[in-house]
Amino acid sequence: MKTPFSPLKAGACGCDGEPEGLIDDSRRRLFRIVTGIAVGAGGMGRALAQAELSIQNGDRFVKVTAEGDPVALRAAEVPPGKPLLVYPFDPVSKKIRNASRLSKLVLVRVDELDLDADTKPRAAGGVLAFSGLCTHAGCDVNAWMAKTKRLLCYCHGSQYDPLASGKVTDGPAPRSLPWLPLALAGDELMVAGPLSATPGALTT
Ligand code: FES
Repeated sequence: MKTPFSPLKAGACGCDGEPEGLIDDSRRRLFRIVTGIAVGAGGMGRALAQAELSIQNGDRFVKVTAEGDPVALRAAEVPPGKPLLVYPFDPVSKKIRNASRLSKLVLVRVDELDLDADTKPRAAGGVLAFSGLCTHAGCDVNAWMAKTKRLLCYCHGSQYDPLASGKVTDGPAPRSLPWLPLALAGDELMVAGPLSATPGALTT
């Protein structure tokens, strides 16, 4: 029997390239734990999310897969058509703010000519930043649909428009993907303000 919001299969989304958003078993377990904490207590999820978030102005970014001392990501290192999942880190102490998945972010390169007056001030070097957690049930958002210029969550197919403040354009996600303003420090990407909303899946 078909269930609503079945996970997408490889190639089922019509996007370019191989699926990169399918999460493995260990990440699914972590997702369940964190999501259970974040949404299990109803409205408590919002307060907990804010308490666990430790993103600071001036933080730099490091890929979630990086090892060793973090090296600040440069704007030119975010490739077109391949969103990067990152964590912020303190450039002085080198502490990576990865104690919670809620701090996970996704960086996406866009065509600077597509940036409107609202979006342009949040971009740096043609890169925009958003929460890396889908607002439906908290899976990673790390795939890109080149033809429609949408971020995609493979778990149940939610799509977000990065050029419209992370607005949901398809799928079961109930709200926009929170965005994070960026600036440049030399050629390094840097946090320039707080997330626009609480990240992840929440109940009201
Ligand atoms: Fe369900 Fe993203 S977690 S669409």
